[in-house]
Amino acid sequence: MDNKLNLTSPAVFIGKQGDGIISFGSGQPDLPPPREAIEDIDIRRDLRYGLIQGCVELRVSLADEYPASSAENFVITNGASEALDLIFRAMDNGKVLLPRPYYYSYPPILEYAGMEPVYIDLKQGRIDIEDFRKKIKGCKAVLINSPSNPTGRIEAIDTLKEIEEVTEKLGIYIVSDEVYKDIIYERENYIIKGSHVITVNSFSKTYAMCGVRVGYLWSLDQEFVNKIIEMKTHTSMNTNLVGQDMALRAMKSPKLYVKQQLEIWRKRRNIIYEGLKDIGLDLWKPEGAFYVLPKVPKPEELVRKLYTDYNVIIYLGRWFGAPGRVRLSYALDEKEIKEGLNRIKDCLSKI
Ligand SMILES: Cc1ncc(COP(=O)(O)O)c(C=O)c1O
Repeated sequence: MDNKLNLTSPAVFIGKQGDGIISFGSGQPDLPPPREAIEDIDIRRDLRYGLIQGCVELRVSLADEYPASSAENFVITNGASEALDLIFRAMDNGKVLLPRPYYYSYPPILEYAGMEPVYIDLKQGRIDIEDFRKKIKGCKAVLINSPSNPTGRIEAIDTLKEIEEVTEKLGIYIVSDEVYKDIIYERENYIIKGSHVITVNSFSKTYAMCGVRVGYLWSLDQEFVNKIIEMKTHTSMNTNLVGQDMALRAMKSPKLYVKQQLEIWRKRRNIIYEGLKDIGLDLWKPEGAFYVLPKVPKPEELVRKLYTDYNVIIYLGRWFGAPGRVRLSYALDEKEIKEGLNRIKDCLSKI
């Protein structure tokens, strides 16, 4: 076992593949994007600078999917990651209510923006609305991520509506990270609404296009949107045009693609959930996204030993504010999931 492996952050594993590694690490869909997204792209046309706010056609297409909105309410960004970064920097300072466990990049993004996280611990992986009512006071924003990375849980629609109402009354922003909105096994997505809402989304997960880095934000608060455009003008400028072209084509491809992907995720979800339960681990059954967050004995030792002795990557729960757990992504094919589960079982028996 390699005791020198630096487990400070997931950076140690990001991008590691090949050499027989089975990686339950990265949340990167392994499936191809829709055929239409990559066919007939004219790269030469996309070699110029583009509009900072994003291609008009793409924004018009998005506006059809969001209630009471127009192309002006969107900014196309370099993935959801840039949208999150811009949003919190645009807020200047203040406190942000952050449900824990959280996506590992949220605390650093808040820190770089000079914002202070106020943690609210999830109960059984969900927001406790009474606790929320107490802790939200004095915050400038709340960051919601449903379906969640890393819990795989979704919030009840009633909870989301209450959060909408409470924050609207108090004049607090909701930043809703909905990058997994199309991967929900239990119900349709509920779009959080209101003039105080800033929704973040991405083409990385739904259309399996992580590497081209296209995401967006949507808000009816036009002043806030304009501030973001101004900031983006002086930082990354336009989002890459080839990627936006692909994103628009993906949106126009038959909706069957998204449906079929969901069924693949559901099958994998069942295999990994049943497999980990059979091993004897305690975990929530994912309702969305493609992650599980089981409790395990000695997580650090398990992560190290799995990597060095079994060629398997899993992530430490500690990186997500969940010590005592590990996170597995099931963005890999069924055969690999099953083989990975065998190795995890064997490794656990030796810890
Ligand atoms: C909850 C969440 N938000 C944002 C991102 C970043 O997405 P993007 O590739 O669009 O930057 C991820 C990626 O894993 C994520 O899980």
